[in-house]
Amino acid sequence: MGTDHVARLTSRISGARVVVVNDFITEKAEQIAAGIDGCRAVADPLDAIADPQVDAVVLATPGPTHEKQLLACLEHGKPVLCEKPLTTDVATSLEIVKREAELGKRLIQVGFMRRFDHEYAQLKSLLDSGDLGRALVLHCVHRNPAVPPSFDSAMVVRDSLVHEVDVTRFLFDEEVTSIQIIAPSANPAAPEGLADPQIAILRTASGRHVDVELFVTTGVAYEVRTEVVAEKGSAMIGLDVGLIRSHSGGIRGGRITPGFRERFGQAYDTEFQRWVDAVHSGGNVDGPSAWDGYAAAAVCAAGVESLNSGLPVEVTMVDRASIPGA
Ligand SMILES: NC(=O)c1ccc[n+]([C@@H]2O[C@H](COP(=O)([O-])OP(=O)(O)OC[C@H]3O[C@@H](n4cnc5c(N)ncnc54)[C@H](O)[C@@H]3O)[C@@H](O)[C@H]2O)c1
Repeated sequence: MGTDHVARLTSRISGARVVVVNDFITEKAEQIAAGIDGCRAVADPLDAIADPQVDAVVLATPGPTHEKQLLACLEHGKPVLCEKPLTTDVATSLEIVKREAELGKRLIQVGFMRRFDHEYAQLKSLLDSGDLGRALVLHCVHRNPAVPPSFDSAMVVRDSLVHEVDVTRFLFDEEVTSIQIIAPSANPAAPEGLADPQIAILRTASGRHVDVELFVTTGVAYEVRTEVVAEKGSAMIGLDVGLIRSHSGGIRGGRITPGFRERFGQAYDTEFQRWVDAVHSGGNVDGPSAWDGYAAAAVCAAGVESLNSGLPVEVTMVDRASIPGA
């Protein structure tokens, strides 16, 4: 993701320059920096954040590194676009929310990029317009052709479902209060021990129902579909209706996006352009906040608990009003 984000910042986003790159693997950072005019590799991530030439930071290191690096960004007062997850557990995510709130200004945006996808944005506008009446149910499908060998059952919740958790909160403007994960018979093609597919059932504060089919070893392509059922009709996105071609033999069809980069490329670009613009304007954030990262972490923690027990689990979150500025 870091390499992707550097490429988008240097080629497609206006108003930003990549001046410092850091990676645990020094040669990787040096190689990337060498390809960009005026860019340097800095060996220590905390030095990179503190560097006086750096006005704003993109964090695309693995989740376990985020807490320390986010705290450094807050300490230096630097706006940061942090890839999801905010941190890897609920307690540290809450701590980050509190530390930012104490500063009295927003500095953290979390990389839930689906909010910037034009189809999700259209769906949100439709719901907000009231044309569909009150939304009652959300059906989601999240399928990957394959995942790396290190991907385990909890990661299906933390790395995949986390996006639908944010989509739910984004579309419905309310918190998720309980979650149940059901693991039906596993796909024989899934690696040994991986619970795949999984079905997630979420309930929101006002009692709305959300179900998500998560299936990360389909061997087919990247399929993300979202359907809202409301009082006055329903609406669906993610059908991948691009070019439809007729072939000899009487076959008609199109192509499904192979991966998340192709499906959400436009969303990442829009996310970055709006973030860069927000940093320039002094607002620093134009998208999901640290609170959104904390809320997603809380729902996913309850989801992992449910994956182990098979039972519905209540989501435990602090009252937002108890943290002024959060
Ligand atoms: N928004 C999305 O759709 C999306 C998609 C994929 C990944 N992500 C997120 O992006 C982040 C990175 O994921 P990835 O798939 O690119 O991981 P990756 O493992 O492919 O790359 C991580 C990079 O960080 C470097 N690194 C590791 N520890 C470091 C440290 N302490 N300091 C500096 N560099 C360090 C590694 O050397 C590696 O180059 C994760 O938080 C992940 O959840 C988000």
